[in-house]
Amino acid sequence: MSMDPSAFDFTGRHLFVAGGSSGINLGVAQAFARAGANVSLISRSADKVATAAAGLEALGTQALGIAADVRQPEALERALSEAHVRFGPIDVLLSGAAGNFLASALDMSPNAFKTVVEIDLLGSFNVARLAHAHLRRPGASIIQISAGQAFTPTPFQAHVCAAKAGVDMLTRVLALEWGAEGIRINSIVPGPIADTEGLKRLAPTARTLDDMAQRVPLKRLGRIEDIARMAMVLASDWGSYITGAVIPVDGGLALTGPRDLTAAAEATRKTRA
Ligand code: HXC
Ligand code: NAP
Repeated sequence: MSMDPSAFDFTGRHLFVAGGSSGINLGVAQAFARAGANVSLISRSADKVATAAAGLEALGTQALGIAADVRQPEALERALSEAHVRFGPIDVLLSGAAGNFLASALDMSPNAFKTVVEIDLLGSFNVARLAHAHLRRPGASIIQISAGQAFTPTPFQAHVCAAKAGVDMLTRVLALEWGAEGIRINSIVPGPIADTEGLKRLAPTARTLDDMAQRVPLKRLGRIEDIARMAMVLASDWGSYITGAVIPVDGGLALTGPRDLTAAAEATRKTRA
């Protein structure tokens, strides 16, 4: 990912990323690393976090990768403590662990629905609540990675719609509860971001991918650096009076109505059958 790191300086700052071993969250971490931040990151896979941390160190910063599932508070607490000892209080908390698949409500078992809600919503609650003790106060900035499904009812996405709507409400409530301590918290709502697992799952064919891009008012898919730039604004002094905000970075997609994912769901169903 290319981005001019000189626009922002996070030298010596501590970025903690939940769900940071791939995709958008890792790309944002790389941008912060280029701007001088020390990065600690967690995800479920020990191999993926180790590879991601090594990649961040290759950019010239210090990085710590720890395997932990956001659904397991004890593992999360251990990871946060280890990260605090290594890099000091957390200046920026990026919370973006998530899971998704296309399935109609009737094709979704209670456990399928629960799995996504537990990763996306309960996981975000666990991350924020347990990180609170490790945040720099005043001054810390929490950035939750949401999705347009939070406010656009989307067929085949009942689990993600419910979970991400909850994530954004959590953002607003914690902004009220933690504002007096000098902790800010905001949600970024990415649009469809090219070359990511999330988009692959929602637009699994060339046709559905093109349909998605054409639906965006700016007529292009998003880039990870679009999200990294907003994260840096929110984490820096430029964002010092912003809290409790839910900010689409989506080329205008939030202005359009519900998406028709029937063709994508059908393609996914054939693959899974
Ligand atoms: C129906 C499904 C399913 C599918 C899984 N399940 N896939 N049901 N259709 N395609 C069901 C399983 O049968 C099971 O229910 C339950 O979900 C849990 O499945 P597990 O595989 O045991 O769960 P787990 O190992 O915890 O894995 C979580 C996961 C997986 C979400 C299912 O896909 C994952 O690890 N995803 C992480 C990567 C990812 O999704 N990245 C995209 C993030 S993008 P039963 O009843 O059988 O036990 C995003 C939205 C952004 O979040 C929007 C993009 C534009
Ligand atoms: P991704 O590459 O699959 O990223 C998800 C990350 O979360 C991975 O590092 C994954 O690593 C980790 N993770 C998953 N379950 C976890 C758990 N239980 N505990 C800890 N870590 C877990 O997907 P992405 O597309 O970049 O999505 C990143 C974020 O952007 C998500 O919050 C997603 O909802 C949001 N988003 C994406 C798009 C898009 O176009 N891609 C659009 C809107 C919103 P492990 O597998 O190692 O756990």
